[in-house]
Amino acid sequence: MWPIIMASFILVSQDSHFPLANIPFGTGFSTHNPNPRCVSRIGDFVVDLAALEAEGFFQELSNTHFFSNPTLNSFMSEDKALWRAYRSKIQALFAAENPLVRDNEQLKAKILIPISEFTNTLPVNIGDYTDFYASRNHAFNVGCMFRGPQNALQDNWLRLPVGYHGRSSSVVVSRHPVKRPRGQIKLLDSPDPVFSSCKKLDHEVEIGVFLGGKLNKLGEPINIAVASEHVFGLVLLNDWSARDIQSWEYVPLGPFTAKNFQTSISPWIITTLALEPFTTGLPAQDPVPLPYLREDPPTSFNITIETFIKTPSLSEPHKISTTNLQHLYWSIYQMLAHHSVSGCNMRPGDLLGTGTISGPTPDSLGCLLEMSTNGKTPVALPNGETRSFLNDGDELIIVGKAESENFTIGFGDVRGVILPALEDQYFHN
Ligand SMILES: *[C@@H]1O[C@H](CO)[C@@H](O)[C@H](O)[C@H]1NC(C)=O
Ligand SMILES: *[C@@H]1O[C@H](CO)[C@@H](O)[C@H](O)[C@H]1NC(C)=O
Repeated sequence: MWPIIMASFILVSQDSHFPLANIPFGTGFSTHNPNPRCVSRIGDFVVDLAALEAEGFFQELSNTHFFSNPTLNSFMSEDKALWRAYRSKIQALFAAENPLVRDNEQLKAKILIPISEFTNTLPVNIGDYTDFYASRNHAFNVGCMFRGPQNALQDNWLRLPVGYHGRSSSVVVSRHPVKRPRGQIKLLDSPDPVFSSCKKLDHEVEIGVFLGGKLNKLGEPINIAVASEHVFGLVLLNDWSARDIQSWEYVPLGPFTAKNFQTSISPWIITTLALEPFTTGLPAQDPVPLPYLREDPPTSFNITIETFIKTPSLSEPHKISTTNLQHLYWSIYQMLAHHSVSGCNMRPGDLLGTGTISGPTPDSLGCLLEMSTNGKTPVALPNGETRSFLNDGDELIIVGKAESENFTIGFGDVRGVILPALEDQYFHN
């Protein structure tokens, strides 16, 4: 079950998120080659998979050239056995005891790029993005604020993974700034809505799930027994949310412009193959789900997710929360089985968000709406500032990792700085 711990000839610091056991997949360009292409990463070096492929290193696995593409979609369309074979091949090529690459300076100069000379791009051409609402703590806390504790969880919540179809065009890679949106806001003491910049801009700590493999045809659901074959890997996901716009517009069809202005993801896709050693269970599901949702037992991964805020006057980022993927009620495979139960065809490169992941304690909440109880209990920062929601100039940083005594499988981070809203006159005729 546990992988043999391999060392690489590339020096990897003890606390690195990217040891040889990780082998994440991403895309981007370097100072010496402006063409976006597929890459991996070991320690502080980017591994140019397109260059390795051009040198013929993957020929025994496939004749297809996957990695010269600007996105990973073509590779993600293959099956899990091939992902596993490529992963093993890359690990073998960079293992400490293998001289093939290690002792070839010319080759190393071609395929290893210092991370400081590399810019990540959005790794996938995302066809569809769906966002779930799978954390019981989050759904309960938010439900209490809007409907009171008696009606916090709706009748369907414990029976199916609630979700909505999101917007893929505004999914961006980490470091893309976030322009504060404008929209209709209806204040409680006023009969009419106003048009205003969002005053309750929030983050949401989520895990993004990238689908791959030979997926289902229209009309043919994905059986939960094979759902794990169709998950290529995971990323950190921040589904920025305009709470004041959301609370007015969400009835009865759910979130719309309060969510569609931007979603940020971390640049490195961490494969479920790398995460296998961190497989764990989920809290008991009661009532027992209907048969098509029965995963025996529901599985998750032990991924610790920390959130930091860096305001312009803070000297360094301040941690505001630590949560874990294990706190979800529904598993990612149950989400996939439910999404496709109608016969909805899923495609390689589709993205599922778990929904905000909140733990049971005040220091494990996944968004400011919960932390500040919708503004009633602002979060205190070490320099005396407080935040109920995000201000212009604030940076929000989410970091994720799975740790064992021997190695860390990290996600790196997803971050974004808040920019001011567009001027009022921009919207006038
Ligand atoms: C999850 O990982 C942490 C280390 O990050 C460890 O301390 C904890 O015991 C693990 N929990 C489970 C349930 O495996
Ligand atoms: C960590 O490495 C040691 C020594 O190689 C091994 O005995 C142990 O089982 C490993 N633990 C895990 C959790 O992989």
